[in-house]
Amino acid sequence: MSEPLRWVEIDHGALAHNVRALRQLLDGAQLWAVVKAQAYGHGPVETARTVLAAGAAGLIVAVVDEAVELRTAGVKGPILVLTPPLPDQALAYDTFDLIGTVADYETARVLAAAGERRGRPIPVHLKVDTGMGRLGVLPGDAVALATAVHGLAGVELAGVFTHMAAADEEDLSSARAQLERFNAVLAALERHGLRPPMAHAANSAGAIVLPESRYSLARVGIALYGIAPSSFVAARAKALGLELRPALAFRARVVAARRLPAGWPISYGSTYATRTETTVATLPVGYADGLSRSLSHKMHVLVHGQKRPIVGRICMNHCMVDAGDLPVRPGDVVTLLGADGGETITAEDWAQALGTIPYEIVCMVGSRNPRRHLLGTAAAAAS
Ligand SMILES: Cc1ncc(COP(=O)(O)O)c(C=O)c1O
Repeated sequence: MSEPLRWVEIDHGALAHNVRALRQLLDGAQLWAVVKAQAYGHGPVETARTVLAAGAAGLIVAVVDEAVELRTAGVKGPILVLTPPLPDQALAYDTFDLIGTVADYETARVLAAAGERRGRPIPVHLKVDTGMGRLGVLPGDAVALATAVHGLAGVELAGVFTHMAAADEEDLSSARAQLERFNAVLAALERHGLRPPMAHAANSAGAIVLPESRYSLARVGIALYGIAPSSFVAARAKALGLELRPALAFRARVVAARRLPAGWPISYGSTYATRTETTVATLPVGYADGLSRSLSHKMHVLVHGQKRPIVGRICMNHCMVDAGDLPVRPGDVVTLLGADGGETITAEDWAQALGTIPYEIVCMVGSRNPRRHLLGTAAAAAS
C-alpha cells in the first residue's frame, strides 16, 4: 500500500511523559485519563493503552459507545462513563464492566436492575451540578438521591463528583464557589452516614491551579495531550515546573510544486495573487480534513523547517503554500501542526486564529485523518 498523503502523528512518548509529570504534581491523588472524543483526536484505544501503562488509574469517556469501543479492543482498567445512560444502554454497563454516572433516581434504578441480573452491583458515581449547568443533581437534592441510590441492591455508590465551569480562568472565584458547594454536599453526605470512596472535581485546569479540587482523583483530559487549557493555566504550569509535551502533529506530502509568475491568482475567488515569481506548493489537505476554511490567509505551515504562508482560500481537499525559492518537490513532507527543525506550529496558534480553543483543533484534525502512532517512544520515555 502507498504511504498516506496526510496524517496525524501521535507521539506516545509525549503522552507517557505527560501522565508521569501530572501524576507527580497530583501528589497522591489518582489520575484518570479522559479519552472521550477519540481521545481528543489522538486515537482512543492506543492512547488508553499508553496512559494506563504510564500510570493512569482509570479511563473516562463521555458516552457508553466509547467505552464499548475500548472494551471490544481489549482495553482493561476501570472506565467511568460521564453521561448518565438512557434506559436502553444500561445492559452495556453489565456486559462491559463499566462505571455509570447517575443524576436521578430513574437512571439508578435502571442500572440497579442490570446489576441485580448479573448478581453483582454496578458501580456508580453521583454527579452533582454545583454550577456547570449541564448535568447533575442540584446540591440541595443530592443527599436524598444518594440515600435512595444507596438503598438499591444492584448499584454501589462508589463516587460523587462535580465539574467546574471556569477553573481555567484567572479569576478563580466561581470555581472556588463551586468547590464550596461541593464540600457542603460531601459534608451533608457524611452526616447521613454516606461516604462514597471517591470524590472528584478537577479537570486539567483544576488539577494544575487548584490543589483543593484534587480530592481522590483528577479527571485529566487536555493536559494529557500536552496542551494547557488556557494561557493562564499554561503560565501556572510553567511556574510549577510542569512541562507538557504536545503529542499530536499533522503532516502532509506535497502533491504539486509549481513555479508561478508574479501576479498569478491562487484558489477560489482569486483573493490572492503571487507578489513575485515563486514556487507554490499544493497540499492534499483542506477543510474536509480539519484545516478550517477560516484559516485562509491566516496560517502558515513548515516547509523544510521554515514557516511559509498558506495563500488563497483553503479548498475542500487542498490548500496552497507560497514556498518562495525553497527547493520543494512533490512528496516532500510539510508540517501543518507540530515541530519541524527549530520551528513549531501549535494547536493554540490555530485556535487563536480561529477564535476558538485548542481542544477543538485537536478533535477536528485528529478525528478526520489517518493516525500514525509512534509507539516506540512511549517505551523509551518510560525507561
Ligand atoms: C466532566 C468532565 N471532566 C473532565 C473533563 C476533562 O477536561 P480537560 O480536558 O479540561 O482536562 C471533561 C472535559 O470536557 C469533562 O466534561
